[in-house]
Amino acid sequence: MPSTRHTLAALATLFVASVSLTASAQSTGPIKIGLMLPYTGTYAGLGNAIENGFKLYVQEQGGKLGGREVQYFKVDDESEPSKATDNVNKLIKRDNVDVLVGTVHSGVALAMAKAAKENNTLLVIPNAGADAITGPLCSANIVRSSFSNWQPGYAMGVVAGTKGIKRAMTITWAYAAGAESTKGFTEGLEKGGGKVVKDLTLPFPNVEFQALLTEIAAQKPDAVYAFFAGGGAVKFVKDYAAAGLNKTIPLYGPGFLTDGTLEAQGASAQNMLTTLHYADNLDTPRNNNFRKAYAIAFKTQPDVYAVQGYDAAQILAAGLKAVNGDLSKRDALTAAMHKITVDSPRGKFTISPAGNPVQDIYLREVKGNNNEFRSVAVKSLSDPARGCKL
Ligand code: BEZ
Repeated sequence: MPSTRHTLAALATLFVASVSLTASAQSTGPIKIGLMLPYTGTYAGLGNAIENGFKLYVQEQGGKLGGREVQYFKVDDESEPSKATDNVNKLIKRDNVDVLVGTVHSGVALAMAKAAKENNTLLVIPNAGADAITGPLCSANIVRSSFSNWQPGYAMGVVAGTKGIKRAMTITWAYAAGAESTKGFTEGLEKGGGKVVKDLTLPFPNVEFQALLTEIAAQKPDAVYAFFAGGGAVKFVKDYAAAGLNKTIPLYGPGFLTDGTLEAQGASAQNMLTTLHYADNLDTPRNNNFRKAYAIAFKTQPDVYAVQGYDAAQILAAGLKAVNGDLSKRDALTAAMHKITVDSPRGKFTISPAGNPVQDIYLREVKGNNNEFRSVAVKSLSDPARGCKL
């Protein structure tokens, strides 16, 4: 019979061994990255572009981040909030990933942010703009490489105000991104003396727009602001033009309305004005090199989603570099991710204490298959981060 003293000693040895195994797993071997993105449904194109952009940056670093190889785990979140908690737990609990990267849809991202906080998992968000994630849900563990829904909406409202728009209508899907984007637009427009006379919504990802277009035609506002993206944006812009509304009522939106969609939208999108933190023709060496490398690697042109994926990898790389790939040094890692000035194809930007990009928002105009830069709509725009307490 072993004595109690021997048993305790054996247990202590076992504990020390398992702690040092965990610690070494955090500093050696491949970094496990969980990509949770939509690969099916209306946002599938956005998910693929984000993954491409992320992988392009990693490839440019010789396939390593912070000196460590990268191993990818993938989940298709289908832009389906009701499946989001189960899906994110596949990555956190089943695959035991070190870092989560995702996603596109704000409703899904809100569930990811809650799970990341509960499990103390690092989360880099390459698109979803849910204001709450860098508001009441903000956390040192969560950094966004994209935007808050408020940012491009607010900027378009400011632009519409300077164009003398007095009565506007909004139309969008009834979920966080649409509600927050149109709220931002309303705030910007009101600053310029205009107002939103009616908000129209339909459930995500519904594309039966006819009844709502009839209502717009009847109300005759000075302008319409629409938040749609991906497949839904293609259908909306085409239906708006087919109804003849684009001849009399200008259609504005955040750049998602015309980004990654122009080939499919064709003539219906020409000359549209949108606001976003990226424009295809930014003539800088950084953007030109990025576009060339992306086109060679993926045989297609990049869009804002590809840029956000690329920058998500850059932000993570900065954190990992600061700790030589040692994920156990979490505070130093997240501090470096917040301190970075990102040398992005969109132009340089910084990260706010709440974890959101502080960035220029551009006014763009559709010409052919490009969203062309026209002017800086709002310089160094910082999300108000309402409710964020760190
Ligand atoms: C969102 O759900 O936050 C979102 C989706 C597509 C484009 C932009 C924002």
